[in-house]
Amino acid sequence: MKCTLMHKRLEVADMELDEITGFIIKILNVYQPEHLPLGVAYKKGIADRAALNEWWADRSIPASRSGVRDALEYLGISNTKSLLVRCFGLSLSDQYWIRPIGSDLLWENVNFFENDFSEDIGDVLFGHANKAEDFDFSSPDNTSDGCLKKRWKIIDGKRCLIKGGSGLEKQQTFNEVIATKIMHLLGIPHVPYSLIWDGGEPYSVCEDFVDPETELVPAWRIMQTQKKDNNVSVYRHFVNCCEALGAGNMTSALDKMIVLDYIIANEDRHLNNFGLLRNAETLEWLGFAPIYDSGSSFGYDKRVVQIRRQSDIVCKPFKKTHSDQIKLVSDFSWIDFERLRDVPEMIYGYLTSEYVSEFIEDSRALAISETVRKRIEVLREIANCHIKTEDTAEGDVEKNVAEDYTK
Ligand SMILES: Nc1ncnc2c1ncn2[C@@H]1O[C@H](COP(=O)(O)OP(=O)(O)O)[C@@H](O)[C@H]1O
Ligand SMILES: [Mg+2]
Repeated sequence: MKCTLMHKRLEVADMELDEITGFIIKILNVYQPEHLPLGVAYKKGIADRAALNEWWADRSIPASRSGVRDALEYLGISNTKSLLVRCFGLSLSDQYWIRPIGSDLLWENVNFFENDFSEDIGDVLFGHANKAEDFDFSSPDNTSDGCLKKRWKIIDGKRCLIKGGSGLEKQQTFNEVIATKIMHLLGIPHVPYSLIWDGGEPYSVCEDFVDPETELVPAWRIMQTQKKDNNVSVYRHFVNCCEALGAGNMTSALDKMIVLDYIIANEDRHLNNFGLLRNAETLEWLGFAPIYDSGSSFGYDKRVVQIRRQSDIVCKPFKKTHSDQIKLVSDFSWIDFERLRDVPEMIYGYLTSEYVSEFIEDSRALAISETVRKRIEVLREIANCHIKTEDTAEGDVEKNVAEDYTK
């Protein structure tokens, strides 16, 4: 299939796609190299096809997504990449799409920000499939990332991402709400999450923070814009790439993210779980994206004794431990510790509230609340005797991998 890679209304490149594997076999012409997905190199009139394929594959639902095998079996499709073509690769997180050559499709008529989309794929992903005929694939669910069961829905005219949790506790859903409250108290720009129930199961829900003018560029893509020297830390590399792109100094935004992740003991802030926003037409950088996906925290997959022990907490994206990562923070003066005083009680109250307590046992709620109290105390001590030192690559995270709940 020959198609044009589009960036909103702009024609970026013509390419040839294998419809069965979803692989980009050939890049035919490049019209707007600066609009190629960030990090796809363009040299001497040639775009890096391997890099474009990597970007395109990353756009599909990951094979590790909860429930995806059953969904593919139901649809009679072998891999999630072939789903991309059926929704023109459209997403609700950026403005890229593909237009078959010879078609006169217009952005105005196809984008999901302003046009309704089908719930069929979302139903299949949620195990509610009941449609044998007229199956409509046009949905941003074909291009959503992440391992947790999720779907986009239009609620009261707003595009909302509905996301489940893993295991028996489904703790990620409650964690998103708690992280929202903490970020609100600390004045950290964030995506607010609330809780909804469906069939007796909890789901977190948040609004789309991207709109028809803007798009999310994940940190992973930003890191691809320059070669990283081995002696440069992951943190420094990210900051350098942002500056070289003209996006500005991200130190203060990173301080906020690192402090949040320290408090909540986040274990999955990989390089696709934060990023920058830019204007999709002018490519102007708009700053650090509001913090999203903070659910894999508070010992979400651990037993109560492990939560209390606090010894095997994974840390990403910069350092392997939170105690090393917190050293990257330049400035703690913005933290109003007074506002954090009641956070442990707030957490315990929320996790033991009606309905939530059916998933989270009292001993777990207590362990989470008490460990957060300790983490905040240690954070206060760190902030009080803080002296900033230059970062080295020692203790860096070596690979960018998302948590896989199927393991
Ligand atoms: N509110 C949102 N608006 C736009 N895009 C979003 C929003 N929340 C998440 N995304 C995009 O969807 C992806 C998957 O969502 P995420 O919350 O990270 O799920 P998971 O917990 O399964 O990793 C993110 O990496 C991001 O690209
Ligand atoms: Mg994620």
